[in-house]
Amino acid sequence: MDISDLSGRWALVTGAGSGIGGATALALARRGADLAICDIDEDGMAQTLSAVEALGRKTIARRVDVADREAMRAFAEAVHAEIPAVDILVNNAGVAIAATFVDTTLEDWEWIVGINLMGVIHGCHFFVPRMIERGAGGHVVNISSMAGYLALVSMSAYNVTKFGVRGLSEAMRGELAPHGIGVTAVCPGIINTPIVGKMRVRGLAGHESRQQAVQAFTRRNYPPERLAAGILDAIRRNKAVAPITPEARAGWWLKRLAPGLVHWLNRRAGKRIAEEEAGRTPGA
Ligand SMILES: NC(=O)c1ccc[n+]([C@@H]2O[C@H](COP(=O)([O-])OP(=O)(O)OC[C@H]3O[C@@H](n4cnc5c(N)ncnc54)[C@H](O)[C@@H]3O)[C@@H](O)[C@H]2O)c1
Repeated sequence: MDISDLSGRWALVTGAGSGIGGATALALARRGADLAICDIDEDGMAQTLSAVEALGRKTIARRVDVADREAMRAFAEAVHAEIPAVDILVNNAGVAIAATFVDTTLEDWEWIVGINLMGVIHGCHFFVPRMIERGAGGHVVNISSMAGYLALVSMSAYNVTKFGVRGLSEAMRGELAPHGIGVTAVCPGIINTPIVGKMRVRGLAGHESRQQAVQAFTRRNYPPERLAAGILDAIRRNKAVAPITPEARAGWWLKRLAPGLVHWLNRRAGKRIAEEEAGRTPGA
């Protein structure tokens, strides 16, 4: 899709009140797009809204929980009351959890599947048919993750949602191509956003993962604005899967070229966690 000038086009970004969603909304607005945004964080959304409006763009903003089917239906009705269809749909809103499978409660599963997977499905369900009906093409971006192809210990619930988002995107891509609508599963690596500070943690493994993740995210310091530039490039090139950071690209190839090594590293990490949870020193 030509994104050099998005004047007169509408983009929709879920979870636009922070991190990747906020940066992507702003990057699209800088290219000229008008913006429909939603989030459950009204303060964060207000900040994104004022930055987008400062660029002179039109906006539609609603407090919407993407996991809530009826709220998403009402949001779609509000958007489609203003415009026939969006041109670019970015299903971004998401949450994280660090916990082994055994420590993950069924309520945790419902929570994360509801937001990370059903939220993306709701976005596609309520906005894509109108894009098809309008017949002017467009692009759907679903935010998956490096965890959408690398399944790692303490991440089973997050992995399930992100593998799901990637699978959904790859299947939809074939279905939407005849309508001139591209679909990209964006797979970021480690992006410096508040997500890990807010993530749910369970058990020793979870708490350790939060500490490690916060440290890794801070050290890595890859800004969401840079990722947003990668997302725009993936739309332009109509990429099927877009691993954007160097570690995401390395993981993508490692999984393909040396899957045994990935399993070995994962088994080692699982053993270390089991030892620590049993109160023993690793390697003792
Ligand atoms: N930060 C990373 O390293 C990273 C890596 C890979 C993938 N991702 C994915 O990128 C997406 C954005 O994450 P981020 O890092 O910018 O996190 P973030 O916490 O900075 O932003 C997520 C936004 O989603 C909103 N949100 C959460 N639950 C919601 C709900 N039920 N309904 C509507 N909005 C909701 C939050 O309020 C927040 O504004 C997520 O899907 C995440 O899984 C992030």
